[in-house]
Amino acid sequence: MNPFVYSRPLSPKALVDREGETGTLLDLALGGHNSRLSAPRRYGKTSLIGKVFADADDRDRLTTVVYVNFAGVLSVDDVARRIERAYRDLRGPLRGWLEGALRTLRPTVAPPGTGLSVAPSLESASGERLLALLDLPRRVHERSGRRCLVAYDEFQEVLATSPPVDGAMRSVIEQHGEHASYVFAGSHPGMMRTLFSDRQRPFYGQARPVELLPLRASDLAEDISEQFSRTDREPAEALGPLLDIAAGHPQRAMLLAHHLWERTPVGGAADEGTFQMALEAVYAEVADLLTQTWAALDPSERRVLALVAYGGRITSQRDRESADLARSTARDALGRLVAEGHMQEIDGDPVIVDPLLARWVAGGRQAAL
Ligand SMILES: Nc1ncnc2c1ncn2[C@@H]1O[C@H](COP(=O)(O)OP(=O)(O)OP(=O)(O)O)[C@@H](O)[C@H]1O
Ligand SMILES: [Mg+2]
Repeated sequence: MNPFVYSRPLSPKALVDREGETGTLLDLALGGHNSRLSAPRRYGKTSLIGKVFADADDRDRLTTVVYVNFAGVLSVDDVARRIERAYRDLRGPLRGWLEGALRTLRPTVAPPGTGLSVAPSLESASGERLLALLDLPRRVHERSGRRCLVAYDEFQEVLATSPPVDGAMRSVIEQHGEHASYVFAGSHPGMMRTLFSDRQRPFYGQARPVELLPLRASDLAEDISEQFSRTDREPAEALGPLLDIAAGHPQRAMLLAHHLWERTPVGGAADEGTFQMALEAVYAEVADLLTQTWAALDPSERRVLALVAYGGRITSQRDRESADLARSTARDALGRLVAEGHMQEIDGDPVIVDPLLARWVAGGRQAAL
């Protein structure tokens, strides 16, 4: 079996590094604080939550952990259903009690043919049900004496419902100081910022930010070498170029390692040629995604992305002129690229998040390579 997983969250033991972030999140949670984990897509947010949960279980058996993923929610009912499902998935002594509690929170269905439609309002029955589900950590705590650690993944999507439910969530969560701690994770920097840094929004200033940075090359090198040798292979000369291209991006590193491993014979070693084949396979796999990403950008965003991909600097007038960008246009486009998660600022410098996209843009965006 290929040891490099790149398309789903990792099991807690499989994570490279992230010890510091795990410890921080866990300390905050056990200390009764809420946190927000904001990182680019595929940077390992969900995997990290899994590790925090596993460690919470090891360190403090008094905590009940609840994981809710809001990816794709469209309505108040959707949000309620996601939360219900998360509690339904809980195992352990509370199971029977929870089953009963959830039953009493079942949606009431209007008789067919009455022409009644549920208005999108939080005063409706749906809204009431949502509030009751959101309040379950308090009841769990009162029932069992166990504080809850609740992770809301893809939290920014609660802004997509009509009406947005962040206000309702805040009103319940702020009563939970002694009952639960929350981790809010999200991959859309702009929307996470709206939720937590916009004075107009209910969650303003409500959670301690925790950042996920790229992985260190030395940590990746150690892990990749170890997985190869455990399965009787050597990454050898291919390791350097792999680390260069991955640039610390967790999922891109695993994707490259996966394809390299696949092309390295048992008992053998990879070389530059093996790496080139792996790279071609990787680009064949992500070609559609890159094309779609590019197509969704407006012309000034493309120019900014290309300028950075070619190694230029947005602060340099000459670079901007050669990219046909006015200063304010460049600044605004960069702002949007960061908000959308295509770029991030590391030590004040704008960096393209996906190194495969950066390389493809710099290579002229023609064929896959
Ligand atoms: N610490 C890590 N060590 C090794 N690989 C990692 C790590 N974190 C993430 N990955 C890689 O990234 C992939 C995606 O991880 P995960 O699903 O946890 O990320 P995510 O940020 O939740 O992604 P999404 O934005 O798609 O929800 C994993 O399958 C794995 O290949
Ligand atoms: Mg995720």
